[in-house]
Amino acid sequence: MTFDLRAWSARRLAEVEDALSAWVPADAPAGLGHAMRYAVLDGGKRLRPLLVVAACESVGGHQGAALRAGCSVELIHAYSLVHDDMPCMDDDILRRGKPTVHVQFGEASALLAGDALQALAFELLTPVDQGIPDATQARLCRLLARAAGHDGMAGGQAVDLAAVGHALTEDELRRMHSLKTGALLHASVMMGAACGEPASAALKGLDGYGRALGLAFQVVDDILDVTADSATLGKTPGKDAAQAKPTYVSLLGLDRARSHAAELLEQARAALATSGLADTRALLGLAEMVVHRDN
Ligand code: IPE
Ligand code: IPE
Ligand code: MG
Ligand code: MG
Ligand code: MG
Repeated sequence: MTFDLRAWSARRLAEVEDALSAWVPADAPAGLGHAMRYAVLDGGKRLRPLLVVAACESVGGHQGAALRAGCSVELIHAYSLVHDDMPCMDDDILRRGKPTVHVQFGEASALLAGDALQALAFELLTPVDQGIPDATQARLCRLLARAAGHDGMAGGQAVDLAAVGHALTEDELRRMHSLKTGALLHASVMMGAACGEPASAALKGLDGYGRALGLAFQVVDDILDVTADSATLGKTPGKDAAQAKPTYVSLLGLDRARSHAAELLEQARAALATSGLADTRALLGLAEMVVHRDN
């Protein structure tokens, strides 16, 4: 029987939505909670939480830890989008089909909502009395901190801004994309793995899968910026060319960017095949979804 990713995702997505809604507070002072909830709830594919849960299930890990870890990566991701959209960065007015947070609440509130979501992510990873061993909590925090910071998302965003108007080599572009987007997706997979005790071949396979999928994700994001319409995308297309951002499309053209995404999907598949894990169908389905998505 073929694997039904939609059916697999439905229950996990419902759990993630309920948890995010319960954990992102409405009552933070001076309306901050409204901006935080607006940034996180009602939208988003939730790919990162699904990756955490799929990786955790593949290694037979602690499911409560994975739900927290998945939500924590989603909070970092949501904060990165809030800041990415601000006038000092990409200056976007539409996100997840709604006005961006700074358009809706003002720039200072957007900045603070991002700050508060980042802190909340680490609070979620360190609960008291939830049966998650201290060593697991520390491992999860370390993985997320590295992927969010200077050697991950924030570092990649700095490279992105510095690269405006410049032609990058393929190596430079790969590094930028692997940092700004790939790092959090890779971390999602490794955090799922860290909820269990995988053998070293499994960890190595998941590591290769996470890297290939993370890069593929941003290659496809670059493609969709050129090919998709705003109703499907939920954000304004055409921004990369308008802002002279180097992308896989500007470097390779659409056809070669597409074939590169397909190659990365094969790399992700090959990495899973070496992992020795018994059931990688959800991980495989998510990688296919990343490359074949239309938003
Ligand atoms: C968009 O990420 C920003 C990038 C990292 C390229 P997603 O496409 O995962 O955005 P949501 O969460 O579904 O809105
Ligand atoms: C964003 O890359 C990566 C982040 C860290 C948020 P983009 O700037 O291409 O993302 P979109 O296209 O605005 O979602
Ligand atoms: Mg950007
Ligand atoms: Mg952007
Ligand atoms: Mg983009």
